Amino acid sequence: MSITETSDLWWKSAVVYCLDVETFMDWNNDGIGDLEGVANRLDYLAELGITCLWLMPFYPTPDRDDGYDITDFYAVDSRLGHLGDLVEVIRTANDRGMRVIADLVINHTSDQHPWFLSARSSRDSPFRDYYVWRDEPPKEQREPVFPDEETSNWEYDKKTKQYYQHVFYKHQPDLNVTNPVVRDEIAKILGFWIQLGMSGFRVDAVPFLLETEAVMGGDNLLPDPHAYLRSLRAFLGRRSGDGVLLGEVNLPREEQSVFFGGADGDELTMQFDFIGMQKMYLSLAREDAGPLVEALQSRPDGSPDSQWANFARNHDELTLDKLSEDERAEVFAAFGPEERMQVYGRGLVRRVPPMLAGDPRRIRMLYSLLFSLPGTPVLFYGEEIGMGEDLEQKGRMAVRTPMQWNPGRNGGFSDAAPADLVSPVVEGGFGPSHVNVQTQRRDPDSLLSFIRRLIRHYRNSPEFGWGAFEILEQPRPAVLAHTLVWGDGRLVALHNLGSEPADVPILLKDTGKSQLNDLLSGEVMSLTDDGQARIPLEGYGHRWLRVVREPDTRQY
Ligand code: GLC
Ligand code: CA
Repeated sequence: MSITETSDLWWKSAVVYCLDVETFMDWNNDGIGDLEGVANRLDYLAELGITCLWLMPFYPTPDRDDGYDITDFYAVDSRLGHLGDLVEVIRTANDRGMRVIADLVINHTSDQHPWFLSARSSRDSPFRDYYVWRDEPPKEQREPVFPDEETSNWEYDKKTKQYYQHVFYKHQPDLNVTNPVVRDEIAKILGFWIQLGMSGFRVDAVPFLLETEAVMGGDNLLPDPHAYLRSLRAFLGRRSGDGVLLGEVNLPREEQSVFFGGADGDELTMQFDFIGMQKMYLSLAREDAGPLVEALQSRPDGSPDSQWANFARNHDELTLDKLSEDERAEVFAAFGPEERMQVYGRGLVRRVPPMLAGDPRRIRMLYSLLFSLPGTPVLFYGEEIGMGEDLEQKGRMAVRTPMQWNPGRNGGFSDAAPADLVSPVVEGGFGPSHVNVQTQRRDPDSLLSFIRRLIRHYRNSPEFGWGAFEILEQPRPAVLAHTLVWGDGRLVALHNLGSEPADVPILLKDTGKSQLNDLLSGEVMSLTDDGQARIPLEGYGHRWLRVVREPDTRQY
């Protein structure tokens, strides 16, 4: 495929950066991050090499689920700024070569949304059917998503004497997408943000959105849920030819393909690889590449336009729900042995560097691995400088602390009194005096500089986003060796998950007279004419090797 054919599918080789406006940069010093703060940090993100910004919910909200409880889909939370500020962010980001996508939370609203206030005021409300009501909760129910706070997926409404459905918190009543009027409302929401300049959406809780009552044991179902997802994608396509739908779908492998629309690729454009992420941590814990290899090989085939989004951390708990109980126990033991590090019986509330005991070799190896996996990498703000978590904060809030810009007061996030900050700044070894942008930006050996190099090479190497992926057979269990081939370009990536150095014999097919150039270290390694090489890796070592034909006149 030529550059002309690939450029519209920009998400295939994007570098996505997720941030919460509230905790990123506070420009008016009231203690709450704001859109003006984001606008003033876009040059930083461009310098890092980010090509797509994912903004976590910025809508008006009572803020009982960090903004995932929305009261107005068409506005900006006044604490963060206003629509004009958002347009400035989008416009400036575009000018710096970055697209912006918004979190699209349409599975539910806040219970303070005017639709729900009206719906619960009377059974005759014109908004009653915007939500899902029953006289009795179904006998068989799935376990609530947040078992520490909820015991049921149904909540009794005293005034109208019926139960309403909520997959998440009881203050987040589920929208009824079997109602065509609700589907119309959702289309308008998409249309509005696209018209304003967004390049697509991170779609929250996709399976729950489609399944309506099925998982809750009820019978209020869409006749063909995937037809609905297809229609959303088609609508987006009509409004914006190259808009992306990046879906949150944490399901077993066999259930994922259909969310892409299978071989037709006409539903979600991208899905987070939750399975790959969970198995990656199992592999790291065991220092055995096996589980990750298996996860990568079990990715369903799909349309060449569909894409996996790879991530190491996000704003939620590091969920391990798809591992077996024993496997989860192994990961807990390795990376979060204390109870306060765990949540919901299934996940960890930690960031990467503390989990890896701050070992720079291991942290770099993990991010090198992440960026080398076939797909599109997604970073959560602060990962690029190696921020830690605050275990004093409740549950998932532990990883949602303010961005650390400099070693000064409040980590340079805000000049407000510390007590007025939206969240306390991390203290201790991972606090701003040790971990901050300013110091790392000036240090070529810092994690930030390292991640910037990874991003540069990722962007210069279409093989990662587009290439055909293959595991290379080799005898070291701790090593993941894989190749990516795209057109006449070929990369080999090697990652040593173990602490012992390893010499890795590899065999590449049809290389002819070539050599291996290490993109990260600049070393050149020889390859025999029949494609054999022995690659030395340090403990927790990593390499990105480009197969270069001799003589190669296109090198630069
Ligand atoms: C998604 C979000 C999470 C939120 C939930 C309910 O899982 O990632 O943060 O709490 O949806 O909206
Ligand atoms: Ca502010």
